[in-house]
Amino acid sequence: MTSSGPDLMSFEVSDPKDLEAMRVIFNASLADMATKGEMKPVSPEDQMRWWMEPYPSKRAWMVEELGNDDPVGFIVLTDRVGFETPMFAIAPTYRGKGYARWFVQEYINLAKGALAGEQLQSNEIICRLNREAGWEIIETRRENADRVIDYLYHPGSSRQNVIIYHRLRGE
Ligand SMILES: CC(C)(COP(=O)(O)OP(=O)(O)OC[C@H]1O[C@@H](n2cnc3c(N)ncnc32)[C@H](O)[C@@H]1OP(=O)(O)O)[C@@H](O)C(=O)NCCC(=O)NCCS
Repeated sequence: MTSSGPDLMSFEVSDPKDLEAMRVIFNASLADMATKGEMKPVSPEDQMRWWMEPYPSKRAWMVEELGNDDPVGFIVLTDRVGFETPMFAIAPTYRGKGYARWFVQEYINLAKGALAGEQLQSNEIICRLNREAGWEIIETRRENADRVIDYLYHPGSSRQNVIIYHRLRGE
């Protein structure tokens, strides 16, 4: 187990059962995540190919409620050399329970340092949660009236880690 919140915990994806649960939640979330245009449902074979590709390397976590092994959602952090890109989704049956803010904070905590992200301006919930979590809009591109995409930067926990480093060196 990597970390826990009041009601949720994340653990690193390690077996095919988790990979399949991730795939099902991903396919149920395509419309909300489509910053890169229309996304097609992923087959079990696609999912395995994606997971086994060595580059870019990725880390993934399943999220569950404490004491309940039903998957609530997943987090993926992809290594982009010098920073990571996050992706997360919550299973439809667990949406609307106030869990999204926890997911955003969790992937910031799990990231090694800085993060790059994208948000569809039409995904108002995500835009607000991202703003609250400290994401900075670097650029906005308007593809058409329905698809306005913000390109984002977050320092992740790098500032906090640097503070700890200096403190330890000063002791
Ligand atoms: C976007 C997503 C993460 C939101 O999850 P959720 O469980 O519905 O959101 P929550 O219940 O945590 O609510 C988050 C906030 O949005 C508000 N909210 C929820 N539904 C809302 C609605 N229909 N209209 C307006 N506000 C809403 C909540 O009140 C809450 O705000 P508050 O805590 O300040 O009161 C979820 O729909 C999802 O997984 N979508 C697909 C994948 C995705 O978009 N991932 C993110 C981009 S990678």
